[in-house]
Amino acid sequence: MIFKTIKHIREHFFIKFIFVFTVVMFLMSVLLAFFFMRHQSTVLESHLIHHGKLITDMLAYNARLGVFAENKELLGDVVNGVLMQESVQEVFVYGLNFQELMEKKATPESRSRKDHPARESSIDGKDPILTPYFVESEHEISFWAPVFSRSVGINKEALFPETPVLSPKRSPIGYVRVLVSKDILKARKRLLAGKSVVLGLFLWALGSCTLYLVMNKLIEPLKRLTVTVDRMGRSGQFRKIRIVISDEIGKLAEAFNRMSESIIQRETDKTRLEEQLRQAQKMEAIGTLSGGIAHDFNNILGAIGGFVELGLLEVKTGSVLHEKFKEIEIAGARATELVKQIITFSRQQDDKLEPMFIRTVTKEVLKLLSPSVPHSIRVEQNINAECGMVLSNATKIHQILMNLCNNAIHAMKESGGVMKVTLADVDIEDNVEAHEAGFFSGRFQRLSVEDTGHGIPSETMEKIFEPFFTTKTDGEGTGMGLAVIHGIVSRHNGFIIVHSIPGKGTAFHVYLPLVDLEEIPEIPEKEEAIPMGRGRIMLVEDDPQLLESTAGMLESLGYQVDKQSDGLEAIGFFNRNSWDIHLIITDMSMPGLIGATLAREFHQIRGGIPVVLTTGYSELIDERKAFTLGFAGFLTKPISRKVLAVTVKNLIKIPF
Ligand SMILES: Nc1ncnc2c1ncn2[C@@H]1O[C@H](COP(=O)(O)OP(=O)(O)OP(=O)(O)O)[C@@H](O)[C@H]1O
Ligand SMILES: [Mg+2]
Repeated sequence: MIFKTIKHIREHFFIKFIFVFTVVMFLMSVLLAFFFMRHQSTVLESHLIHHGKLITDMLAYNARLGVFAENKELLGDVVNGVLMQESVQEVFVYGLNFQELMEKKATPESRSRKDHPARESSIDGKDPILTPYFVESEHEISFWAPVFSRSVGINKEALFPETPVLSPKRSPIGYVRVLVSKDILKARKRLLAGKSVVLGLFLWALGSCTLYLVMNKLIEPLKRLTVTVDRMGRSGQFRKIRIVISDEIGKLAEAFNRMSESIIQRETDKTRLEEQLRQAQKMEAIGTLSGGIAHDFNNILGAIGGFVELGLLEVKTGSVLHEKFKEIEIAGARATELVKQIITFSRQQDDKLEPMFIRTVTKEVLKLLSPSVPHSIRVEQNINAECGMVLSNATKIHQILMNLCNNAIHAMKESGGVMKVTLADVDIEDNVEAHEAGFFSGRFQRLSVEDTGHGIPSETMEKIFEPFFTTKTDGEGTGMGLAVIHGIVSRHNGFIIVHSIPGKGTAFHVYLPLVDLEEIPEIPEKEEAIPMGRGRIMLVEDDPQLLESTAGMLESLGYQVDKQSDGLEAIGFFNRNSWDIHLIITDMSMPGLIGATLAREFHQIRGGIPVVLTTGYSELIDERKAFTLGFAGFLTKPISRKVLAVTVKNLIKIPF
């Protein structure tokens, strides 16, 4: 039990302090009471002695006549006056030889001390007493004073001469003796002791209570702090401590609040970064997986496409089988487009990025979109003309903006609303949302598409960048839009922030790093490999030199070339060898034939044969016109080996 109490005291600063202080206070109170009592009883004693001396001297002075005349009547009044004084027990008046002239007690019950008058004297009782003195016993004090016939050398104005200057010739005529009882002194001392104890106890209690209250007040914030910290430790939830006064404990609470805020902030940052990391890892994994699949699919689709084309060559145009092959071709083209998107998402496409102004492309896209925007949707654009350059690629920006705008328009399809497209340069340091996303420095260009559509519910928010995630009904969307944007933006070393409030709207902010033109290193043009190929090409060209040089180029690229310098001869040759020839390259102006009809002539012999048209700058034909005339490719002279190689390679489809 005792050990338990000691342990309890030791564990609590408050109790420890109160305990020690109470003990100290107690000792101090005892000491104080003791000294108070000592001092007061000394004062009482000296007061009594002083009083005794005074009345004895007064008696000696006033009894002169009575003693001289040895007249009891004269003495009676004087003695009675003295006896009226408090504590005076008995009064004696003696003659010169100590014969008793008068003796009177204060009350008849008072003890008489008539005996031993001589014994109390400092001398043997025979010598005269020249100065007043007193003798103290257990119960009383006996004051003696000589009585002189007249006073000499004393101040006549003094009422009670203290020490009369005695002339050696003077001798006393008698003596007075006053017995003062110590009973009252003792009673007072007892009372004093009682008072001292009470005073001591009072001081002790007062000190202890004051200390308790003060300590309690002081310790209160500490207790609150401890409880809050303890609660926080248990629940892991932060609660701000109320700061009442800004004293040391208040400062401690303030410091604690600051520390807690910083811990919470770090915890939040950590959780957010973990979430970002998890998301990034997920996207990376999906990207790697889908990228690998997409590449294999691409090859398979290539083979399917090739065989479909071959199949198309073998079936009659307009037949049921031809139609079916056409359907396969269309589906294959759609699949190829999808695969292209997956490759973009997986960032395995190595597009060339170069410094460019996004604002031009942005305006172009908005212009392109405007006819398809419903009337219920208002488009606002805020494109800052001062915007800097980013390392990018126009096609990719086109893709990003088209996708974001289409999503926004779709979200407002039923309700209508406002679509806001903003382009501005921002400093990440001043940007709250970027800070939230964990980006802390750098200058970025921010392309924002905001809408007032239906918004994105929080449960789907983390899936929107996943490939094939869509909430659109069949056929409306593939779910590749945002996945592709994610791939593009990551390749730009940028990031995307999405804010959405269901029912209110959505904001997509795409951040792309700004480039300082002076900082762009001179990037040497990468020598791209010229694609080689195989297959048989009929080259029709009336200029013999050009015929030879182009044929030489093609041969160096791995192709077998049949050179023809005359249009009609070329048609005859093709008629004979149509199934061995994979591609025709023909000049625009051939003698005997109008360039425009060339493709038709060749197609009549063998439908589907790819025919590439070569033209000089002066001729009034462009790529688009060439395609409408049925040409599969278009080359402007002078033809570079690289362009020739790429065009031919893309058009010759040999399955193996
Ligand atoms: N602005 C927006 N408002 C509301 N929801 C949106 C918005 N943008 C995207 N979403 C949601 O994110 C999903 C994925 O968008 P994403 O662009 O990747 O695919 P999609 O638009 O469904 O299909 P696709 O882009 O291939 O046509 C959408 O289906 C839609 O649920
Ligand atoms: Mg979309």
